[in-house]
Amino acid sequence: MAKVQFGSKIGLIAATVGSAVGLGNIWRFPAEAQANGGGAFLIVYLACVLLIGIPVMLGEFAIGREGATDAVGDYQRLSPGKKWWLIGGIGILASYLINMFYIVVAGWTLEYLFGSVTGDLFAGISETQSSGVHFANKMQEYIQYDFGPLIFSYVVIILNIVILLKGVKKGIERMSNLMMPVLFILLLIFCYVSVTLPGASKGIEFFLTPDFSKITPSVIINALGQAFFSLSLGMGVLITYAAYYPKKTKLIGTATTVSLLDMLVSVLMGLIIFPSIASFDLMDNSYKGLTLVFVTLPEIFQQMPATQFWSVLFFLLLFVAALTSTISIGEVTVRFCQDRMKLSRVKSVLLVFIPLFIFSSLCSLSQGSLSDVKIFGLTIFDFLDTFATNILLPIGSLLMCIYLGWFAPKGLLVKQLTNNNSVAVRLSKVIIFIIRWIAPIAIAMILLSQFVKF
Ligand code: PHE
Repeated sequence: MAKVQFGSKIGLIAATVGSAVGLGNIWRFPAEAQANGGGAFLIVYLACVLLIGIPVMLGEFAIGREGATDAVGDYQRLSPGKKWWLIGGIGILASYLINMFYIVVAGWTLEYLFGSVTGDLFAGISETQSSGVHFANKMQEYIQYDFGPLIFSYVVIILNIVILLKGVKKGIERMSNLMMPVLFILLLIFCYVSVTLPGASKGIEFFLTPDFSKITPSVIINALGQAFFSLSLGMGVLITYAAYYPKKTKLIGTATTVSLLDMLVSVLMGLIIFPSIASFDLMDNSYKGLTLVFVTLPEIFQQMPATQFWSVLFFLLLFVAALTSTISIGEVTVRFCQDRMKLSRVKSVLLVFIPLFIFSSLCSLSQGSLSDVKIFGLTIFDFLDTFATNILLPIGSLLMCIYLGWFAPKGLLVKQLTNNNSVAVRLSKVIIFIIRWIAPIAIAMILLSQFVKF
């Protein structure tokens, strides 16, 4: 039995959605959708979430609630004397590596928020320079000049420490209850403004009408990778959070709600970005990919009345989303230190986060003065991102499915899905089939494609 639990159903959903909704939805999803054919990507992505994401999420919930401790300890409890705990170990490692760079990007969002509040982001736009060039320069300044990004990533680390020190109920749950509604309200406001802009329809059409001829193997693989990242799968986050779920929580309902809300955020984000870039005639802009949010959106705010107001709201939204995700990533290692190494909460939080001041600094500096330091030809930042996101996450999920589908104690999944036979679950056969066959094969395909790329 877990010592700590979430206090309410809403709180538990808010915290889990808080983990899922993050830079993955707001920063990465529109970029992926843009690069992979808009509507075609959207439809494959939705299918990946529903058919594979939800069952894998349920698998993590089942292991977490049954094991009721940290990601490594759960496997040790469920299959003592075996090496399956290594899967949890991969999750712990992946979560720590991801946090190193995720904190840096969260710092950028805070820097943009700060720049929007002070007006610095928009200051000095000259008539001789296009606004695209201005914001591209600003992005360089905010991301590559050593001092600013370092300071802001430290602020993110300190906020993490403060929230995590307060614990699961008073820290994580309370923060999520407060921030998630704010995030959804901001998203809806932006969506309304964006789809009602003149000329928005071209963007809506690009995003919502699938051109089936554009669905290629690489689109499918990118969509599946995006679904895993966005749902926080494969790194022990959901395993850790599920240990805090009360016994009566219905896992299928929870997984479906969390996944649909996460998907909704991504769809709303698409409905914010594409109509507005169509309206401002930036569809064929040279700024693509990850600059969509940091260059293209400020360009749009610049052309709107109340520029600073919108910019502050947007970067607040982005920052809130990023912060709740870093908290969940941090909790994986904190819980590990508490339960495996028997440290107090305070010691665990400090042990996890103090070294991050150094590791995240290295990541941050690798955009600037350390950009020449290369690991396998990649900067420190890109190496961590590629290695953890594209390799460790899928390996972790693949092994988890194999374990749960074939080697875990018999009946574990059904017991967890039905709350010990107290609720009827008709879909359990389908879910087991997906965890045994479909998900591992699909994940193996993503992995293979990563190695080919490497
Ligand atoms: N799901 C988060 C996002 O979309 C990122 C994340 C990945 C968080 C893995 C926790 C674990 O940004």
